[in-house]
Amino acid sequence: MPIRFTTLFLRFPYNYCPRTMSDSQLQLDVSKLPRHIAIIMDGNGRWARERGEDRVFGHYEGVLSVRAIVDECGVLGIKYLTLYAFSAENWNRPIDEVNALMELLVNTIRKEVEDLKKNNVKLHVIGDFDSLPPLARQEMGEAMELTAGNTGLNLILALSYSSRHEIVRAATKLCAMVKANQLQPDAITEDHFKQCLYTAPFPDPELLIRTSGESRISNFLLYQLAYSELYFTPVHWPDFRKKHLHEALMAYQKRERRFGKTSEQIQNER
Ligand code: FPP
Repeated sequence: MPIRFTTLFLRFPYNYCPRTMSDSQLQLDVSKLPRHIAIIMDGNGRWARERGEDRVFGHYEGVLSVRAIVDECGVLGIKYLTLYAFSAENWNRPIDEVNALMELLVNTIRKEVEDLKKNNVKLHVIGDFDSLPPLARQEMGEAMELTAGNTGLNLILALSYSSRHEIVRAATKLCAMVKANQLQPDAITEDHFKQCLYTAPFPDPELLIRTSGESRISNFLLYQLAYSELYFTPVHWPDFRKKHLHEALMAYQKRERRFGKTSEQIQNER
């Protein structure tokens, strides 16, 4: 992979020069970074169990990885990062773990909100917001308000999120529009559908990363991942740091994204 110093100097913030960059960062082609990365942060429980600790310990350590990856996405100029922090199915976990995760979420946002503000990160939540405990709703709501004017990285937390639910919800919204005579059924386009998803304001992710060796999507962004590159790594989430993000990005940059076209067509378009 070529090292493109000119592009590096152009794209990275003024205080960030190649001399301070890690080897893996230098191997990235900054002109070919995804705009939107989505991550299924898996393996917290196994990471903790392997150390003889309670599963919740893994979630606490996982927050350090969240911090590192948010920082690095900001440095790289990535515009959107979606983290699968709590699925709708996660409500079925033991109540102590659910409570610990909600508490962790509230405490982390409370602790980090000033830094998010300072680092120009804009916080969003997708999912069934109303099903979250009142304190979590309050903390998330305040953090979204405080960071609403930021223009750097959009950090999108998927909380109480189910992609199937999101799709059914979109269909219900469209039906209501049809019923209200605002839309004719045969006039419904993909764009109408997209506008009814939680993710309406965001582009689709170009890259999905799942940690901890599982190769499935687990009800995450099923519609939005239609053309995303999928990257699976055996690294457990609490061990996932910027070096691993760079590895995922390097793998992404080696892929040829064809969107149904032939390889020759793609070469000719370059
Ligand atoms: C999956 O690992 C992880 C989760 C269900 C929770 C992820 C949440 C965090 C890392 C904290 C997020 C905090 C913020 C502020 C975004 P698992 O428990 O399913 O692991 P296992 O597959 O090894 O059991």
